[in-house]
Amino acid sequence: MRFPGRDYKISSAREAGAEVGRPRDVQRGRGLRRFLSAILLLGLIAALTRPGRRLGRALARRLDARVECFTEPGSNTYVHFFAPIFEHLYRRVAEDAARELAARGRIHRPLILDLGCGPGDLAVAMSRRLRDARIVGIDLSPSMLLWAGRHATTDGRLRFIVGDAADLPFDDASIDLVVSTLSLHHWTEPAEAFAEIARVLRPGGVALIYDLGLLSFTPAEMAGVATEAGLEPADIQRERVRGGLLSSFYVRFKLEGFPQE
Ligand SMILES: C[S@@+](CC[C@H](N)C(=O)[O-])C[C@H]1O[C@@H](n2cnc3c(N)ncnc32)[C@H](O)[C@@H]1O
Repeated sequence: MRFPGRDYKISSAREAGAEVGRPRDVQRGRGLRRFLSAILLLGLIAALTRPGRRLGRALARRLDARVECFTEPGSNTYVHFFAPIFEHLYRRVAEDAARELAARGRIHRPLILDLGCGPGDLAVAMSRRLRDARIVGIDLSPSMLLWAGRHATTDGRLRFIVGDAADLPFDDASIDLVVSTLSLHHWTEPAEAFAEIARVLRPGGVALIYDLGLLSFTPAEMAGVATEAGLEPADIQRERVRGGLLSSFYVRFKLEGFPQE
C-alpha cells in the first residue's frame, strides 16, 4: 500500500549500505540534519492549530519523501545528532514495555522484537529496564546495524539482525512484545508489516509501534492498512503517548496478539 508522499527511502538492504567518505555523502549527511530539524520545527507549528497540523503534515511528508535516509552518512548523522534527542522517548517506551509485560503476568525470559531498531538505543534502554528479556533488533540498513552491533551481548540476550519489517524471520506466535520507534513512516509495505507483526505475536502478546504524529498514518489511513493486512480496523488502536509536551509529538499504534485457532 502506498500513500502520497510516502515513496521509497530504502527498498533493499543493499541500497541502504552506501559507500563512505565522498564529499557528496557529507553533503547528504548535512541535508539529512537540516531536514530532520525542519521536521521538528514543523511539529511545533502543527501542534498548535488544526490547519497548521494539516499543512504541517503535508509539508513534512513531502520533505520526508525526498530524503534518502540511512545510508552510511545518514546513519552517522542520526547516531550523533538525532538519537540523543530521542532519549526521552526510548526511556518512555521501555517503561511502557515493562508495564505491558507486567500486566500480562510473569513471562519467563520474554522475547522482544525492536522493528527498525536503527542504532539500537531503544533496545539498550529496554535491556536495562527488563533484565531477563531477550531482545532482537531488526533493521533494513546495514550501516545502522554497524552502530547497533556495538551493543550486542555475547550471551545473545541483545542481538541485531538485518531484515525487513514486512518479512520477519520468526516463527508464528513466537514473540511476546514487538516495539518500534520512528520507523513506521519509512515502511514501504506497512500492510505486509502489520500482517507479519500479527503473525509473530504470541496470543496475549502485544505490539507497541511509536511514530512521529506528523509523519505517521492518520486514523483513516491506518484503517486501510489494517484492512489490507487482513485485520479489522479496530485491531490497531491509535493512541496518544503519555508523558508531557514532548510526548505530544508522537503517536502509538497498539496491536494485541490473537488467540490461536
Ligand atoms: C528514524 S530511524 C529510527 C531508528 C530507531 N528505531 C530509533 O528510534 O532511533 C528509522 C529506521 O527504520 C529502518 N527501516 C526503514 N524501513 C524498514 C523496514 N521495512 N524494515 C526494517 N527497518 C526499516 C531504517 O533503516 C532506520 O534505521
